[in-house]
Amino acid sequence: MHHQTVIVVGASSGMGLAAARLFLERGATVWMVARDMERLQNAASSLGSERARVLSADVGSDEGRARIVAVAPQVDHLVITAADLVYKPSQALCEAEVMRAVRSKVVGPYLLAAACAARMPEHGSITLVSGVAAERPIAGGSVTGMVNGAINAMVRGLALELAPIRVNAVSPGWVDTPFWGQVASAERREQLFAAMRDKIPTRRISTVEDVAQMIEVAMTNKAVSGTTLYVDGGQRLV
Ligand SMILES: NC(=O)c1ccc[n+]([C@@H]2O[C@H](COP(=O)([O-])OP(=O)(O)OC[C@H]3O[C@@H](n4cnc5c(N)ncnc54)[C@H](OP(=O)(O)O)[C@@H]3O)[C@@H](O)[C@H]2O)c1
Repeated sequence: MHHQTVIVVGASSGMGLAAARLFLERGATVWMVARDMERLQNAASSLGSERARVLSADVGSDEGRARIVAVAPQVDHLVITAADLVYKPSQALCEAEVMRAVRSKVVGPYLLAAACAARMPEHGSITLVSGVAAERPIAGGSVTGMVNGAINAMVRGLALELAPIRVNAVSPGWVDTPFWGQVASAERREQLFAAMRDKIPTRRISTVEDVAQMIEVAMTNKAVSGTTLYVDGGQRLV
């Protein structure tokens, strides 16, 4: 990854931040992208690298994607962990809420992948993050299941169309990230994680570092394209 440029959309938090940290350790220049500039700058400072660059942009908007594409004349790898999801029963959802999730996790990443591929060398790669809700949704999380399933399907078609650039999905199980602050109190989250820890085959909740490592595999293994790499401790089986 030395001397290569990686764009990470969703890099101010959770898995995206862990991925940015790993790629900087590997010697890459990393463009860290998210919407909230202050959080992004704090995240970049925490990494302490001159090769970390920041850009505030919304992957769900035309204007945001245009700014992401414009930052680097050549991009070696694109990683998208961003998601702006909604947790509610389907009958309580309005179209705007559903579309916000779909724009951030499906339509935006799809269009950004296509646009970035045009600036990528043949060894380039695109890695999207889906998630266990595609196979094991929870009640109130049907939109998350829908968008994750769309990503797993999307990478197969894009791998054919954008070849020889490789396109893959990484699918995590539950991971302790700031995302959980949006859906459960700290106490409730601990209860849910404890119950899941007892149930899943690995008997541990996966970490952001586990996910970053799998994203690196998707980026660097030249034989991996058009597939979903599961990093869920076997959660989709239980
Ligand atoms: N955590 C889990 O248990 C879990 C499980 C399975 C799958 N996943 C998936 O894994 C991915 C990463 O999750 P995480 O837990 O690391 O999330 P997180 O900690 O909430 O971080 C999300 C990141 O995406 C950015 N973002 C959100 N919407 C964006 C947009 N429209 N444009 C640009 N950036 C945007 C956020 O910053 P701003 O808000 O400032 O833009 C933030 O940097 C997501 O796709 C999530 O659905 C998570």
